[in-house]
Amino acid sequence: MSKGRTPSNEAMRSNQDAAPRVDVVFRNSIPEIPKTTYGTFSIYKYPAKFIPQVIAYTLKNYAKPGSVVFDPFAGYGTVGVVSRVYGHDYELWDLNPIMNLIHDTAVMKAPKINVKELVTRVRDSDYEFIPDWSNLTYWFPEEFLPTISKAWGLVHATKGKMKKMLSIPLLKATRYFSYSDEKVHKLYKSKHSKKKVDRLLGTDWETEFYRMLEKQIEKLLNKMKEHSNLNPQPVKYKLRSGIDSLNTELDRDVDILITSPPYLQAQEYIRSTKLELFWLGHNEEYVRSLSKRELPYNSVDEIHIHSKKYQDCRKEIVEDHLVQLYDRYFHGTINAFATLGERVKEHMCIFVGPAKIRTRSIPIDEILVEHLTEMGWKHLVTYVDPIVSRSMFKSEVNPASGYADSRMATEHLVVLKRV
Ligand SMILES: C[S@@+](CC[C@H](N)C(=O)[O-])C[C@H]1O[C@@H](n2cnc3c(N)ncnc32)[C@H](O)[C@@H]1O
Repeated sequence: MSKGRTPSNEAMRSNQDAAPRVDVVFRNSIPEIPKTTYGTFSIYKYPAKFIPQVIAYTLKNYAKPGSVVFDPFAGYGTVGVVSRVYGHDYELWDLNPIMNLIHDTAVMKAPKINVKELVTRVRDSDYEFIPDWSNLTYWFPEEFLPTISKAWGLVHATKGKMKKMLSIPLLKATRYFSYSDEKVHKLYKSKHSKKKVDRLLGTDWETEFYRMLEKQIEKLLNKMKEHSNLNPQPVKYKLRSGIDSLNTELDRDVDILITSPPYLQAQEYIRSTKLELFWLGHNEEYVRSLSKRELPYNSVDEIHIHSKKYQDCRKEIVEDHLVQLYDRYFHGTINAFATLGERVKEHMCIFVGPAKIRTRSIPIDEILVEHLTEMGWKHLVTYVDPIVSRSMFKSEVNPASGYADSRMATEHLVVLKRV
Protein backbone atom coordinates (compact mmCIF):
# COMPACT_ATOMS: atom_id res chain seq x y z
CA MET A 1 0.00 0.00 0.00
CA SER A 2 1.31 3.45 -0.76
CA LYS A 3 2.21 5.92 1.94
CA GLY A 4 -0.59 8.21 0.68
CA ARG A 5 -4.18 8.20 1.95
CA THR A 6 -6.43 5.23 1.23
CA PRO A 7 -9.17 5.88 -1.32
CA SER A 8 -12.36 7.29 0.19
CA ASN A 9 -15.87 6.45 -1.03
CA GLU A 10 -16.26 10.02 -2.12
CA ALA A 11 -13.07 9.81 -4.18
CA MET A 12 -14.20 6.54 -5.73
CA ARG A 13 -17.50 8.16 -6.73
CA SER A 14 -15.79 11.23 -8.15
CA ASN A 15 -13.66 8.95 -10.36
CA GLN A 16 -16.71 8.19 -12.41
CA ASP A 17 -16.93 11.84 -13.57
CA ALA A 18 -14.93 12.15 -16.75
CA ALA A 19 -12.99 15.40 -16.58
CA PRO A 20 -12.88 17.45 -19.78
CA ARG A 21 -9.83 17.78 -22.01
CA VAL A 22 -9.53 21.36 -23.12
CA ASP A 23 -7.30 22.61 -25.94
CA VAL A 24 -5.34 25.69 -25.03
CA VAL A 25 -2.35 27.53 -26.42
CA PHE A 26 -0.76 28.69 -23.18
CA ARG A 27 1.81 30.96 -24.84
CA ASN A 28 -1.00 33.15 -26.23
CA SER A 29 -3.16 33.10 -23.13
CA ILE A 30 -1.60 35.81 -20.94
CA PRO A 31 -1.64 39.31 -22.45
CA GLU A 32 0.61 40.77 -19.74
CA ILE A 33 3.38 38.26 -20.58
CA PRO A 34 3.65 38.82 -24.35
CA LYS A 35 6.53 36.40 -25.06
CA THR A 36 7.76 33.12 -23.61
CA THR A 37 11.22 34.70 -23.30
CA TYR A 38 9.96 37.96 -21.74
CA GLY A 39 12.04 39.66 -19.02
CA THR A 40 13.98 37.35 -16.77
CA PHE A 41 12.04 34.26 -17.83
CA SER A 42 14.91 33.50 -20.19
CA ILE A 43 18.22 34.47 -18.62
CA TYR A 44 19.72 30.98 -18.91
CA LYS A 45 18.93 27.78 -20.80
CA TYR A 46 17.50 25.06 -18.64
CA PRO A 47 16.28 21.75 -20.05
CA ALA A 48 12.49 21.32 -20.19
CA LYS A 49 11.88 24.73 -18.63
CA PHE A 50 8.29 25.88 -18.09
CA ILE A 51 7.05 28.70 -20.26
CA PRO A 52 5.83 31.37 -17.80
CA GLN A 53 2.33 31.45 -19.31
CA VAL A 54 1.53 27.93 -18.07
CA ILE A 55 2.09 29.03 -14.49
CA ALA A 56 0.39 32.40 -14.96
CA TYR A 57 -2.67 30.65 -16.42
CA THR A 58 -2.78 28.22 -13.50
CA LEU A 59 -2.43 30.94 -10.88
CA LYS A 60 -5.03 33.18 -12.52
CA ASN A 61 -7.54 30.33 -12.67
CA TYR A 62 -6.88 28.33 -9.51
CA ALA A 63 -5.12 30.52 -6.90
CA LYS A 64 -6.82 32.85 -4.42
CA PRO A 65 -5.30 35.94 -2.82
CA GLY A 66 -2.84 34.65 -0.21
CA SER A 67 -2.44 31.18 -1.77
CA VAL A 68 1.00 29.68 -1.16
CA VAL A 69 2.53 27.97 -4.20
CA PHE A 70 4.90 24.98 -4.14
CA ASP A 71 7.07 23.40 -6.84
CA PRO A 72 9.06 20.28 -5.82
CA PHE A 73 10.88 20.01 -9.22
CA ALA A 74 11.47 23.69 -9.79
CA GLY A 75 14.52 23.65 -12.15
CA TYR A 76 14.95 27.22 -13.34
CA GLY A 77 12.57 28.42 -10.64
CA THR A 78 9.99 29.75 -13.10
CA VAL A 79 7.14 29.00 -10.67
CA GLY A 80 8.72 31.40 -8.17
CA VAL A 81 9.42 34.12 -10.71
CA VAL A 82 5.78 34.02 -11.90
CA SER A 83 4.35 33.73 -8.38
CA ARG A 84 5.90 37.11 -7.56
CA VAL A 85 4.12 38.72 -10.49
CA TYR A 86 0.77 37.65 -9.02
CA GLY A 87 1.77 38.35 -5.40
CA HIS A 88 1.96 34.78 -4.07
CA ASP A 89 4.36 33.39 -1.48
CA TYR A 90 6.16 30.28 -2.70
CA GLU A 91 8.50 27.42 -1.92
CA LEU A 92 10.78 25.80 -4.52
CA TRP A 93 12.74 22.56 -4.32
CA ASP A 94 15.13 20.93 -6.76
CA LEU A 95 18.01 18.52 -6.74
CA ASN A 96 19.98 20.90 -8.95
CA PRO A 97 21.75 23.67 -6.98
CA ILE A 98 21.89 25.88 -10.08
CA MET A 99 18.26 26.74 -9.25
CA ASN A 100 19.36 29.22 -6.56
CA LEU A 101 21.59 31.22 -8.88
CA ILE A 102 19.05 31.39 -11.72
CA HIS A 103 16.14 32.20 -9.41
CA ASP A 104 18.02 34.80 -7.34
CA THR A 105 19.27 36.54 -10.48
CA ALA A 106 15.85 36.41 -12.18
CA VAL A 107 14.10 38.12 -9.25
CA MET A 108 16.77 40.80 -8.73
CA LYS A 109 16.12 44.46 -9.55
CA ALA A 110 18.49 45.86 -12.17
CA PRO A 111 21.36 47.46 -10.22
CA LYS A 112 22.96 50.72 -11.33
CA ILE A 113 26.33 49.61 -12.64
CA ASN A 114 28.94 50.65 -15.12
CA VAL A 115 29.31 47.55 -17.26
CA LYS A 116 32.60 48.56 -18.85
CA GLU A 117 34.14 49.18 -15.41
CA LEU A 118 32.92 45.81 -14.18
CA VAL A 119 34.49 44.02 -17.14
CA THR A 120 37.75 45.91 -16.55
CA ARG A 121 37.72 44.60 -12.96
CA VAL A 122 37.40 41.06 -14.32
CA ARG A 123 40.23 41.65 -16.80
CA ASP A 124 42.47 43.04 -14.04
CA SER A 125 41.59 40.37 -11.49
CA ASP A 126 44.47 38.88 -9.51
CA TYR A 127 42.32 36.05 -8.25
CA GLU A 128 42.24 32.56 -9.61
CA PHE A 129 39.70 29.77 -9.31
CA ILE A 130 40.31 26.28 -10.61
CA PRO A 131 37.34 23.95 -10.40
CA ASP A 132 37.62 20.57 -8.71
CA TRP A 133 36.98 18.69 -11.95
CA SER A 134 39.27 15.94 -13.21
CA ASN A 135 38.06 16.35 -16.81
CA LEU A 136 38.71 20.08 -16.94
CA THR A 137 41.30 19.94 -19.73
CA TYR A 138 39.10 17.64 -21.79
CA TRP A 139 36.48 20.40 -21.91
CA PHE A 140 38.74 23.46 -22.24
CA PRO A 141 41.86 24.12 -24.28
CA GLU A 142 44.72 24.98 -21.90
CA GLU A 143 45.18 28.37 -23.60
CA PHE A 144 41.78 29.61 -22.33
CA LEU A 145 42.05 28.37 -18.77
CA PRO A 146 44.10 31.20 -17.15
CA THR A 147 41.65 33.83 -18.47
CA ILE A 148 38.55 31.91 -17.41
CA SER A 149 40.07 31.04 -13.99
CA LYS A 150 40.91 34.70 -13.34
CA ALA A 151 37.32 35.75 -14.05
CA TRP A 152 35.84 33.05 -11.82
CA GLY A 153 38.40 33.92 -9.13
CA LEU A 154 36.91 37.41 -8.98
CA VAL A 155 33.35 36.06 -8.93
CA HIS A 156 34.12 33.78 -5.99
CA ALA A 157 35.80 36.67 -4.14
CA THR A 158 32.78 38.96 -4.72
CA LYS A 159 29.51 39.03 -2.81
CA GLY A 160 25.93 40.24 -3.34
CA LYS A 161 24.52 41.88 -6.43
CA MET A 162 27.82 42.19 -8.29
CA LYS A 163 28.40 38.46 -7.93
CA LYS A 164 24.98 37.78 -9.44
CA MET A 165 25.48 40.30 -12.23
CA LEU A 166 28.65 38.46 -13.21
CA SER A 167 27.78 34.80 -12.67
CA ILE A 168 25.24 34.10 -15.41
CA PRO A 169 27.01 36.18 -18.10
CA LEU A 170 30.27 34.46 -17.18
CA LEU A 171 28.65 31.01 -17.31
CA LYS A 172 27.54 31.81 -20.85
CA ALA A 173 31.00 32.99 -21.90
CA THR A 174 32.63 29.99 -20.16
CA ARG A 175 30.37 27.55 -21.96
CA TYR A 176 31.07 29.26 -25.28
CA PHE A 177 34.82 29.06 -24.72
CA SER A 178 34.64 25.32 -24.02
CA TYR A 179 34.52 22.25 -26.22
CA SER A 180 30.86 21.73 -25.31
CA ASP A 181 28.30 22.07 -28.06
CA GLU A 182 25.96 24.90 -27.01
CA LYS A 183 23.26 23.54 -29.31
CA VAL A 184 22.98 20.39 -27.23
CA HIS A 185 21.68 20.48 -23.64
CA LYS A 186 23.86 17.63 -22.43
CA LEU A 187 27.57 18.25 -22.13
CA TYR A 188 28.73 17.04 -25.52
CA LYS A 189 31.88 17.55 -27.56
CA SER A 190 30.96 17.61 -31.21
CA LYS A 191 32.68 18.25 -34.54
CA HIS A 192 30.98 21.62 -34.57
CA SER A 193 32.23 22.59 -31.11
CA LYS A 194 35.82 21.48 -31.87
CA LYS A 195 35.73 23.67 -34.98
CA LYS A 196 34.42 26.57 -32.87
CA VAL A 197 37.36 26.28 -30.45
CA ASP A 198 39.88 26.01 -33.31
CA ARG A 199 38.40 29.13 -34.85
CA LEU A 200 38.61 31.00 -31.52
CA LEU A 201 42.23 29.93 -30.98
CA GLY A 202 43.12 31.50 -34.32
CA THR A 203 41.66 34.90 -33.33
CA ASP A 204 42.21 37.48 -30.62
CA TRP A 205 40.10 35.26 -28.42
CA GLU A 206 40.85 37.15 -25.19
CA THR A 207 39.28 40.32 -26.57
CA GLU A 208 36.38 38.25 -27.82
CA PHE A 209 35.95 36.67 -24.37
CA TYR A 210 35.65 40.05 -22.59
CA ARG A 211 33.44 41.45 -25.37
CA MET A 212 31.09 38.52 -24.95
CA LEU A 213 31.06 38.95 -21.18
CA GLU A 214 30.20 42.64 -21.57
CA LYS A 215 27.43 41.87 -24.06
CA GLN A 216 25.93 39.26 -21.77
CA ILE A 217 25.96 41.61 -18.74
CA GLU A 218 24.18 44.27 -20.83
CA LYS A 219 21.67 41.69 -21.98
CA LEU A 220 20.96 40.58 -18.41
CA LEU A 221 20.49 44.20 -17.30
CA ASN A 222 18.02 44.80 -20.12
CA LYS A 223 16.09 41.67 -19.24
CA MET A 224 15.88 42.81 -15.59
CA LYS A 225 14.58 46.21 -16.70
CA GLU A 226 12.00 44.62 -19.01
CA HIS A 227 10.91 42.34 -16.17
CA SER A 228 10.13 45.29 -13.91
CA ASN A 229 7.19 46.11 -16.27
CA LEU A 230 5.45 43.12 -14.72
CA ASN A 231 5.54 44.79 -11.28
CA PRO A 232 6.73 41.80 -9.26
CA GLN A 233 5.54 41.99 -5.63
CA PRO A 234 7.56 41.60 -2.45
CA VAL A 235 6.54 38.13 -1.23
CA LYS A 236 7.88 35.49 1.16
CA TYR A 237 9.71 32.55 -0.35
CA LYS A 238 11.88 29.59 0.48
CA LEU A 239 14.36 27.75 -1.76
CA ARG A 240 15.73 24.30 -1.06
CA SER A 241 18.17 22.96 -3.62
CA GLY A 242 20.41 19.91 -3.61
CA ILE A 243 17.54 17.93 -2.11
CA ASP A 244 15.86 14.76 -3.27
CA SER A 245 12.19 15.66 -3.54
CA LEU A 246 11.26 12.00 -3.75
CA ASN A 247 12.43 11.46 -0.19
CA THR A 248 11.72 14.79 1.51
CA GLU A 249 8.59 15.81 3.38
CA LEU A 250 6.94 19.22 3.39
CA ASP A 251 7.01 20.70 6.88
CA ARG A 252 4.05 23.03 6.32
CA ASP A 253 0.80 23.30 4.37
CA VAL A 254 0.70 24.88 0.91
CA ASP A 255 -2.31 25.74 -1.24
CA ILE A 256 -1.24 24.87 -4.77
CA LEU A 257 1.40 22.53 -6.10
CA ILE A 258 2.45 23.45 -9.64
CA THR A 259 5.21 21.42 -11.19
CA SER A 260 6.58 19.55 -14.16
CA PRO A 261 8.32 16.39 -13.00
CA PRO A 262 11.46 15.12 -14.78
CA TYR A 263 10.91 13.62 -18.21
CA LEU A 264 10.64 9.85 -18.50
CA GLN A 265 13.37 9.77 -21.18
CA ALA A 266 16.08 10.58 -18.62
CA GLN A 267 16.82 14.17 -19.36
CA GLU A 268 19.91 14.12 -17.10
CA TYR A 269 19.60 17.61 -15.70
CA ILE A 270 22.73 17.32 -13.57
CA ARG A 271 24.83 16.08 -16.47
CA SER A 272 23.47 18.93 -18.61
CA THR A 273 24.60 21.53 -16.08
CA LYS A 274 27.80 19.84 -14.86
CA LEU A 275 30.12 22.41 -16.42
CA GLU A 276 28.21 25.20 -14.68
CA LEU A 277 28.14 23.41 -11.32
CA PHE A 278 31.92 22.92 -11.30
CA TRP A 279 32.68 26.56 -12.10
CA LEU A 280 30.15 27.65 -9.50
CA GLY A 281 32.31 25.85 -6.96
CA HIS A 282 30.69 22.44 -6.42
CA ASN A 283 33.15 19.58 -6.24
CA GLU A 284 33.30 16.37 -8.19
CA GLU A 285 32.12 14.12 -5.38
CA TYR A 286 29.06 16.29 -4.70
CA VAL A 287 28.10 16.52 -8.38
CA ARG A 288 28.42 12.74 -8.70
CA SER A 289 26.21 12.25 -5.64
CA LEU A 290 23.57 14.54 -7.18
CA SER A 291 23.56 12.57 -10.43
CA LYS A 292 22.89 9.37 -8.51
CA ARG A 293 19.83 10.87 -6.85
CA GLU A 294 18.31 12.09 -10.10
CA LEU A 295 15.09 10.44 -11.23
CA PRO A 296 15.03 7.76 -12.72
CA TYR A 297 18.53 6.75 -11.50
CA ASN A 298 17.91 6.74 -7.78
CA SER A 299 16.40 3.74 -6.11
CA VAL A 300 12.94 4.40 -4.71
CA ASP A 301 10.53 2.51 -2.49
CA GLU A 302 8.05 0.32 -4.32
CA ILE A 303 4.44 1.34 -3.91
CA HIS A 304 1.21 -0.02 -5.25
CA ILE A 305 0.20 1.95 -8.32
CA HIS A 306 -3.56 2.22 -8.74
CA SER A 307 -3.58 2.47 -12.51
CA LYS A 308 -4.62 -0.03 -15.14
CA LYS A 309 -2.91 2.06 -17.82
CA TYR A 310 0.35 1.78 -15.89
CA GLN A 311 0.05 -2.04 -15.88
CA ASP A 312 -1.03 -2.22 -19.55
CA CYS A 313 1.90 -0.12 -20.80
CA ARG A 314 4.34 -2.05 -18.60
CA LYS A 315 3.35 -5.35 -20.22
CA GLU A 316 4.46 -4.01 -23.60
CA ILE A 317 7.99 -3.13 -22.50
CA VAL A 318 10.34 -5.97 -23.28
CA GLU A 319 13.86 -5.02 -22.19
CA ASP A 320 14.61 -5.41 -18.48
CA HIS A 321 16.51 -2.15 -18.13
CA LEU A 322 13.59 -0.23 -19.65
CA VAL A 323 11.12 -1.93 -17.30
CA GLN A 324 13.39 -0.85 -14.42
CA LEU A 325 13.49 2.73 -15.71
CA TYR A 326 9.72 2.75 -16.16
CA ASP A 327 9.10 1.36 -12.67
CA ARG A 328 11.51 3.72 -10.95
CA TYR A 329 10.00 6.67 -12.74
CA PHE A 330 6.43 5.91 -11.73
CA HIS A 331 7.15 4.63 -8.22
CA GLY A 332 9.24 7.77 -7.63
CA THR A 333 6.93 10.42 -9.06
CA ILE A 334 3.65 8.90 -7.90
CA ASN A 335 4.88 8.37 -4.37
CA ALA A 336 6.19 11.95 -4.29
CA PHE A 337 2.85 13.38 -5.44
CA ALA A 338 0.85 11.19 -3.07
CA THR A 339 3.06 12.06 -0.09
CA LEU A 340 3.71 15.76 -0.79
CA GLY A 341 0.05 16.08 -1.80
CA GLU A 342 -0.98 15.43 1.80
CA ARG A 343 0.18 18.97 2.63
CA VAL A 344 -1.52 20.51 -0.44
CA LYS A 345 -4.81 22.05 0.58
CA GLU A 346 -6.41 23.03 -2.73
CA HIS A 347 -4.97 22.02 -6.11
CA MET A 348 -2.23 19.94 -7.68
CA CYS A 349 -1.35 21.08 -11.20
CA ILE A 350 1.04 18.73 -12.97
CA PHE A 351 2.48 19.50 -16.39
CA VAL A 352 3.89 16.65 -18.45
CA GLY A 353 5.35 16.37 -21.89
CA PRO A 354 5.05 13.53 -24.38
CA ALA A 355 6.93 10.38 -23.44
CA LYS A 356 7.86 7.24 -25.28
CA ILE A 357 9.63 4.04 -24.36
CA ARG A 358 11.00 2.75 -27.64
CA THR A 359 7.99 3.33 -29.91
CA ARG A 360 5.30 3.06 -27.22
CA SER A 361 3.74 6.36 -26.10
CA ILE A 362 3.31 6.47 -22.35
CA PRO A 363 0.32 8.53 -21.16
CA ILE A 364 2.05 9.81 -18.02
CA ASP A 365 -0.72 12.28 -17.22
CA GLU A 366 -3.43 9.63 -17.42
CA ILE A 367 -1.48 7.24 -15.20
CA LEU A 368 -0.97 9.99 -12.60
CA VAL A 369 -4.66 10.86 -12.75
CA GLU A 370 -5.77 7.23 -12.33
CA HIS A 371 -3.65 6.81 -9.23
CA LEU A 372 -4.28 10.19 -7.62
CA THR A 373 -8.06 10.06 -8.08
CA GLU A 374 -7.96 6.73 -6.24
CA MET A 375 -6.08 8.52 -3.46
CA GLY A 376 -8.77 11.13 -2.94
CA TRP A 377 -8.12 13.80 -5.57
CA LYS A 378 -10.76 14.97 -8.02
CA HIS A 379 -9.64 15.38 -11.62
CA LEU A 380 -11.01 18.76 -12.75
CA VAL A 381 -9.55 19.13 -16.23
CA THR A 382 -6.61 18.31 -18.50
CA TYR A 383 -5.40 21.18 -20.67
CA VAL A 384 -3.80 20.08 -23.94
CA ASP A 385 -1.20 22.42 -25.40
CA PRO A 386 0.57 21.90 -28.77
CA ILE A 387 4.34 22.06 -28.60
CA VAL A 388 5.52 24.86 -30.84
CA SER A 389 9.23 25.29 -30.79
CA ARG A 390 11.04 22.49 -29.05
CA SER A 391 12.99 20.54 -31.63
CA MET A 392 13.23 17.69 -29.13
CA PHE A 393 9.67 16.58 -29.80
CA LYS A 394 9.16 17.51 -33.45
CA SER A 395 7.43 14.76 -35.39
CA GLU A 396 9.76 12.02 -36.46
CA VAL A 397 9.44 8.96 -38.62
CA ASN A 398 7.27 6.49 -36.81
CA PRO A 399 9.41 3.32 -36.69
CA ALA A 400 6.32 1.11 -36.61
CA SER A 401 4.80 2.49 -39.82
CA GLY A 402 7.89 3.91 -41.53
CA TYR A 403 5.93 7.13 -42.22
CA ALA A 404 6.40 10.57 -40.76
CA ASP A 405 4.59 10.66 -37.45
CA SER A 406 1.88 13.20 -38.12
CA ARG A 407 0.42 13.33 -34.63
CA MET A 408 0.92 16.74 -33.13
CA ALA A 409 3.15 16.57 -30.06
CA THR A 410 1.29 17.99 -27.08
CA GLU A 411 1.99 18.80 -23.46
CA HIS A 412 -0.65 18.26 -20.82
CA LEU A 413 -1.54 20.18 -17.69
CA VAL A 414 -3.56 18.06 -15.30
CA VAL A 415 -5.53 19.91 -12.61
CA LEU A 416 -6.60 17.99 -9.54
CA LYS A 417 -8.60 19.28 -6.61
CA ARG A 418 -8.68 18.02 -3.08
CA VAL A 419 -12.11 16.54 -2.23
C1 LIG B 1 11.05 19.15 -16.08
S1 LIG B 1 12.32 19.78 -15.03
C2 LIG B 1 11.52 21.12 -14.24
C3 LIG B 1 11.71 22.40 -14.99
C4 LIG B 1 11.02 23.57 -14.33
N1 LIG B 1 9.58 23.44 -14.41
C5 LIG B 1 11.47 24.89 -14.93
O1 LIG B 1 10.67 25.77 -15.19
O2 LIG B 1 12.69 25.01 -15.17
C6 LIG B 1 12.43 18.59 -13.76
C7 LIG B 1 13.36 18.92 -12.61
O3 LIG B 1 13.38 17.83 -11.69
C8 LIG B 1 14.64 17.82 -11.05
N2 LIG B 1 14.86 16.51 -10.40
C9 LIG B 1 15.18 15.31 -10.95
N3 LIG B 1 15.26 14.37 -10.00
C10 LIG B 1 15.00 14.99 -8.82
C11 LIG B 1 14.94 14.55 -7.46
N4 LIG B 1 15.14 13.28 -7.14
N5 LIG B 1 14.63 15.48 -6.50
C12 LIG B 1 14.42 16.78 -6.83
N6 LIG B 1 14.45 17.24 -8.09
C13 LIG B 1 14.74 16.36 -9.07
C14 LIG B 1 15.63 18.15 -12.15
O4 LIG B 1 16.81 18.70 -11.62
C15 LIG B 1 14.82 19.16 -12.98
O5 LIG B 1 15.15 20.48 -12.64
